[in-house]
Amino acid sequence: MSSCELILALDLESKDEARSLLQGIGPDLKWVKVGLQMFTAHGPEWIREVADLGFKVFLDLKLHDIPNTVAKALQSLSDLPIDMLTLHSSGGVEMMAAANQVRLDRKPNLLLLGVTVLTSMDEAQLRRVGVPNSPERQVHNLAGAVVESGVPGLVCSAKELSLLVPDYADQLKFVTPGIRPTGAAADDQKRIVTPSQAAANGSNFIVVGRPIYKAESPRSAVQAINGELA
Ligand code: C5P
Repeated sequence: MSSCELILALDLESKDEARSLLQGIGPDLKWVKVGLQMFTAHGPEWIREVADLGFKVFLDLKLHDIPNTVAKALQSLSDLPIDMLTLHSSGGVEMMAAANQVRLDRKPNLLLLGVTVLTSMDEAQLRRVGVPNSPERQVHNLAGAVVESGVPGLVCSAKELSLLVPDYADQLKFVTPGIRPTGAAADDQKRIVTPSQAAANGSNFIVVGRPIYKAESPRSAVQAINGELA
């Protein structure tokens, strides 16, 4: 089993709250995911601040546009201290390849990730937008497109790894949200997996939000998850 690292999803509104959370957790945590909520409100300066606090930044913007526009966005983002970035793999091989070329030219160590099927999409929703496949089948199709584009990783549910690992583990890193430590509330996540199950399934990174930032002691929650992953 390869190693699996923890990423904290920083889905908070206020910078003050986020700052004191991160300072309280300290060096047991390496990775922080900043999503659309905080990036839209606080912009590139906030990314620099999180990096200055000593964390690696996963910027979860889920880019999806024509290849030229996504490539230009990558160029603009390449000066930021980010270590992971998402784009929608349903944007197509050409779009992902254009983004990947910018990565190779400007920021080769950036782990660019294709988002597969959002966990909010079920079979009926996919059909409504013209996709006749089951979500699992569609995730597998999109993983093939990610590999073809040269993008080095993807985001999926840890439950889908058994389909992907046999075909793609040599070529892709897998990042999985929807994780709940044993005994934690599921919140709105429907198909949850524990940290140790996700690692055993072949996940390289797990994304965990509420079980950490809503915990009485976020630092203890991080330590417990790290203990489960070790
Ligand atoms: O609080 P919780 O652990 O459920 O947060 C999970 C994080 O992962 C959130 O930032 C959520 O947007 C993100 N995510 C997810 N499911 C996906 C893709 C991303 O839960 N399929």
